[in-house]
Amino acid sequence: MERWKTIVEPFRIHSVEPIRLKTVQQREIALREAGWNLFGVHAEDVIIDLLTDSGTGAMSRDQWAGIQRGDESYAGSPSWYAFLESVQALFPFRHVIPTHQGRAAEKILFSAIGGPGKSIPNNTHFDTTRANVEYTGAEAVDLVIPEGRVPSLLHPFKGNMDVAALEVFLTERGADNVPAVFVTITNNSGGGQPVSLANLHAVRAVCDRFGVPLFLDACRFAENAWFIHEREEGQSGRPIVDIVREMASLADGMTMSAKKDGMANIGGWLAVNDDALAERCRNLLILTEGFPTYGGLAGRDLEAIAQGLREVVDEDYLRYRIGSTAYLGDALHLSGIPIVRPVGGHAVYIDARALLPHIDPLQYPGQALAVALFREGGIRGCEIGTVMFGRHPDGSETPAAMDLVRLAIPRRTYTQSHIDYVIEVVRWVAERGSDLRGYRIAEEPRSLRHFTARFEPLD
Ligand SMILES: Cc1ncc(COP(=O)(O)O)c(C=O)c1O
Repeated sequence: MERWKTIVEPFRIHSVEPIRLKTVQQREIALREAGWNLFGVHAEDVIIDLLTDSGTGAMSRDQWAGIQRGDESYAGSPSWYAFLESVQALFPFRHVIPTHQGRAAEKILFSAIGGPGKSIPNNTHFDTTRANVEYTGAEAVDLVIPEGRVPSLLHPFKGNMDVAALEVFLTERGADNVPAVFVTITNNSGGGQPVSLANLHAVRAVCDRFGVPLFLDACRFAENAWFIHEREEGQSGRPIVDIVREMASLADGMTMSAKKDGMANIGGWLAVNDDALAERCRNLLILTEGFPTYGGLAGRDLEAIAQGLREVVDEDYLRYRIGSTAYLGDALHLSGIPIVRPVGGHAVYIDARALLPHIDPLQYPGQALAVALFREGGIRGCEIGTVMFGRHPDGSETPAAMDLVRLAIPRRTYTQSHIDYVIEVVRWVAERGSDLRGYRIAEEPRSLRHFTARFEPLD
């Protein structure tokens, strides 16, 4: 296929869902009712839903077959063993603890290892990860390389951890106060950017020197492995599965949302090697999720994930996946629209602060752009900026490092013509960017405010 430029989706469509083509006027009403928060909009009012790639992908014929096979025995179901085998084929950790999604794994782990006085560094904490760390009274610190903070700067592994900064951090805080170092692959909040194997090895070496365990937030592990395969010296000839296993071998544990590279609509897990930690986590699991052989999941979900994990490491799939995200990003870049570059794995991130310099970060340029894309073209993206990260536990508010709008691509869901429509709408809105105005927040909850805050447009 290397001869041809067209990205051929490596699947045929087997069953379809209708998209309702609503009007601008209908979307204006929907926005007003939702307090200009796109999380509050009815999905039926959306034409192309790029809010998230999490749990929104299409499952394969073989995953649906797995759903039928699902065994709902309370304990020791064959579906649990199918799940365990699939997870450990890629991530051979001693203990695998199934959860209903990634944040449940985070909640359990940080309840066990967090608490006041503790600090958890990460390349960039995802919002739920940060919130779960902070909820225990611990501190969540981002230590991505400086290139990872500059949207326009090209670097093949912009998600890498700043290893020197990590060493300083561990020296200053003291290893006893750092129960784990995290690395998020790919780095979602930093633009879906990959982490190299070399960087993981270097982080591992620092962790070993300080005697601190290393955990992966591995939601997009297959996409990360594909970037390693494509970009890292000496890796192009290796099977993806080998690269994934090498990443896993460098860590002491992981948290996972199977709604991403598990190719499933729900699910996740926590995996660790440490027996005592596993026991503490399983006890918490029983309190909040369920028995250790199903966690928060039905047997049918465990089967869908078991099959999804076999499909996600397929090279034809990953070539299509990463190629089609780059197709959107490259088209926007060539139109002069500022985006995070190079294009990440699961999403294109528009730099709203650069596109709308007349909107102060504390008037939320990302929110203004996301609302405009929805109003004009029914495209739902997600603000990743000052709305999401600007409010701090002490109540203060500061601009986030970047104000981005993420257009996340659900797996195996939209075709190239859907994406061509997105390109047309984004160009149209960007050309009229100077007409857009900022927002103020009228109501917000104490944490994770972006999900439920209500906004008001400024004049
Ligand atoms: C990097 C990262 N970590 C953790 C999570 C949380 O996973 P979940 O949504 O399944 O709770 C997400 C979800 O988007 C994520 O992208």
